[in-house]
Amino acid sequence: MSQLETPLFDVLLKHRNRHPIQFHIPGHKKGQGMDPAFREFVGDNVLSIDLINIAPLDDLHSPKGAIKHAQDLAAEAFGADHTFFSVQGTSGAIMAMILTVVGPGDKILVPRNVHKSTMSAIVLAGAIPIFIHPEVDEEYGIAHGISVESVEKALKTYPDAKAMLVINPTYFGFATDLKQIVDIVHSHNIPVIVDEAHGVHIKFHDEMPISAMEAGADMAATSVHKLGGSLTGSSVLNVREGLVSVNRAQSILSMLTTTSTSYPLLASLDTARRQLAVHGYDLIDNAIRLAKDARKRINKIPHLKVAGREKLHSSATYDMDPTKLLISVKDLGITGHQAEEWLRHNANIEVELSDLYNILCLITLGDTKKEINLLVNALQRMSLAFESEAAVKETNVNVPEIPALAMSPRDAFYASTEVIPFDEAAGYICAEFIMVYPPGIPIFIPGEIIDQGNIDYIKMNIEAGLPVQGPEDQSLKTIRVIKERKPIY
Ligand SMILES: Cc1ncc(COP(=O)(O)O)c(C=O)c1O
Repeated sequence: MSQLETPLFDVLLKHRNRHPIQFHIPGHKKGQGMDPAFREFVGDNVLSIDLINIAPLDDLHSPKGAIKHAQDLAAEAFGADHTFFSVQGTSGAIMAMILTVVGPGDKILVPRNVHKSTMSAIVLAGAIPIFIHPEVDEEYGIAHGISVESVEKALKTYPDAKAMLVINPTYFGFATDLKQIVDIVHSHNIPVIVDEAHGVHIKFHDEMPISAMEAGADMAATSVHKLGGSLTGSSVLNVREGLVSVNRAQSILSMLTTTSTSYPLLASLDTARRQLAVHGYDLIDNAIRLAKDARKRINKIPHLKVAGREKLHSSATYDMDPTKLLISVKDLGITGHQAEEWLRHNANIEVELSDLYNILCLITLGDTKKEINLLVNALQRMSLAFESEAAVKETNVNVPEIPALAMSPRDAFYASTEVIPFDEAAGYICAEFIMVYPPGIPIFIPGEIIDQGNIDYIKMNIEAGLPVQGPEDQSLKTIRVIKERKPIY
């Protein structure tokens, strides 16, 4: 096996070059039956490999040929015992991980700042989440990782937990002391599964936090598409043998996966793995250098600051990915959303996300000095444009409290519910997910007690123009709660 090989991509090219006469789906047949405008735009190459699981191309649901070979190469590159490709994003891989390790009534230790796919899987599994409070950053208004001490406390309180989920690193690039957490949790014979949506590249450079597989975790859902150069929606599930059943993980991933798996997505995973394995170090090194330069220059712009290694002071903020530029704009007297809009309309720049206080810009394998200069220049202009507001406004950082869980998310999801005015919901038990997207971290999950502080926090986000998602009533004038049983007189 050589990391220079791309077995799946090669098989697709070989098949395409034979020009077989297709009597199978997809019905567009190499684009011939497709709307011409779209066909011309995307080009014949990609359409010629938009194929289906006929024998020469192997089958993701039961791989024995080129897909198996490509997955084995990926496992070698990521340091896993087995790698499974996902065409359902990292969300699909996370759901498969969780359903592999917990079932109805099982307890799973999770940080509260998990992505909604984790909570969706917990609802589907009927598991009981035991939330661990992440370390909260009062300066930037974000959640970091969980501390080793809080993991120890959780294990002592819930020795019957069936699994532990860790986020490594967070959306903002901060990483907990994963190795120590894995060792502690393993000493209780409990598997550690990792949401590695923002960490596909970290294995390939020594200035990055430790990867899940390097730390000895049992499973990791890793977004190749986010920062590893594959097509959107393609991810991997890395698995280590021992505490989890590899066959169960594979069959659950298959249960959650479409039977019409996209070969362009699969081929992009095969080629992204080659690029990461062969050229990853140099490409990531370049991104790190660019980001360090940007960080230094942005920190010199009046009223802006970028989170850096000065934030690393505990086991919850143990390491960081330097290619994430978390830029605080609050001292400029504006919200992150205003900064996002200003950059869109005045500099044609699109950021990764904005929140009440920050914007997040990602420096990746795809960047050059030119983009860095454009970003720094635009931020200098933005700072000047809001100079007068910076002088008059002082912004306090408000971080939402974590609500208490009153019943299991699954029980709440299936309970009798009613719709009540959002303003009057304090004290009721929430029956739906409410989150700000991105980053897609729920403010409320089904089963949590709604409190006034969180209602106010959601309103602040709506007023700031940030996208609050999840509720049935998108205007959030009403909210679905667990129906209260009134006494009968
Ligand atoms: C922490 C985290 N986990 C999981 C996901 C889900 O990844 P995907 O969009 O590939 O389904 C995201 C997406 O933003 C995320 O931020």
